[in-house]
Amino acid sequence: MEDRYGHRISYLRVSITDRCNERCAYCMPAEEQEWLPREDVLSYEEVLRVIRVGATLGIRKVRITGGEPLTRRDVFWFFEQLGRIEGLEDIGVSTNGTLLARPANEGGSLTAADLLRRASVRTANISLDTLDRETYALATGRDYLPQVLDGIEAARAAGFESIKLNAVLMRGRNEHELWDLIEFARERDLLLRFIELMPVSTTQVLTEENFLPIGEARRLIEFRYGPLEPRRDFRTNGPAAYYRLPGTGQTIGFIGAMTDLHFCETCNKLRLTCEGKLRPCLGSHLEFDLRAVLRDPAMTDADVARFFREVVDRKPEQHEFRDNYQPNRKMIAIGG
Ligand code: 5AD
Ligand code: SF4
Repeated sequence: MEDRYGHRISYLRVSITDRCNERCAYCMPAEEQEWLPREDVLSYEEVLRVIRVGATLGIRKVRITGGEPLTRRDVFWFFEQLGRIEGLEDIGVSTNGTLLARPANEGGSLTAADLLRRASVRTANISLDTLDRETYALATGRDYLPQVLDGIEAARAAGFESIKLNAVLMRGRNEHELWDLIEFARERDLLLRFIELMPVSTTQVLTEENFLPIGEARRLIEFRYGPLEPRRDFRTNGPAAYYRLPGTGQTIGFIGAMTDLHFCETCNKLRLTCEGKLRPCLGSHLEFDLRAVLRDPAMTDADVARFFREVVDRKPEQHEFRDNYQPNRKMIAIGG
């Protein structure tokens, strides 16, 4: 599938739950929020149907996210089914890491990470914004750093083909830890990416004061390591720009949705929300109610496919974070 701007769509990012066992300030509002009623969330069968139809249209990669996907019941069953879908070449999971080390089979000899790997999950992206336990607790509302570190070890032991660590940049919170995070990733041979704070939820932290542009993070890193060398040859399935650190040769990535002006050029993604909205772009209010199609007995897989194509046709050239999407003031005003 190709959109009007030449984006070739091969990647579907799928949220299977809005629930999470953490409360990251940049993702969820601090006050208790209500979860979606169960019947509003797509069943596993519905999600699998969407992915099966997507695979016939050229979707080659899916990444399962949430909320925290591993909090959903019977999630390993779901991953097993996913592994059987024909045409998919790459299955990934994005997780906060807290549950990866948990014993997950009967008898408890296998971890959640092992079960994911056995169900053909190839890559795991794990959030890790800080290595300081207090900062972690403050940022996520939960004192789970030890579990996450165990989770990262469990993921390494499970033998994923790639494990990425994602660190959201926040001024005053982790800018003094960039070096520690780099060392942590290097010692474990993991690919670390720094992510610019995006206005994807309406919370207090999405302010200019907290925003740390990737350009500034790069300068902080260069101050310690020397000039970063762009690696244009190195691409993952997304908008990250990669650089090589002098000395060790370690590669690190930067995801700059706000300040990287080329961010949307290589976009190959669609998103499916847990309540069945198909979104052509993360940074746009556009979304289309696929659930209504899925739950209409008169609608066949051909109708689902047509719906997919229509959504791809509506994919915008680029996201709208820089103009009308911010809950707060324009972050681009800070430059980068
Ligand atoms: N800005 C940037 N990244 C975010 N994430 C969640 N909310 C935001 C935000 N407002 C990140 C998480 C995780 C990934 C799935 O998205 O930290 O790494
Ligand atoms: Fe949101 Fe992920 Fe944090 Fe959960 S762990 S609150 S889903 S960013």
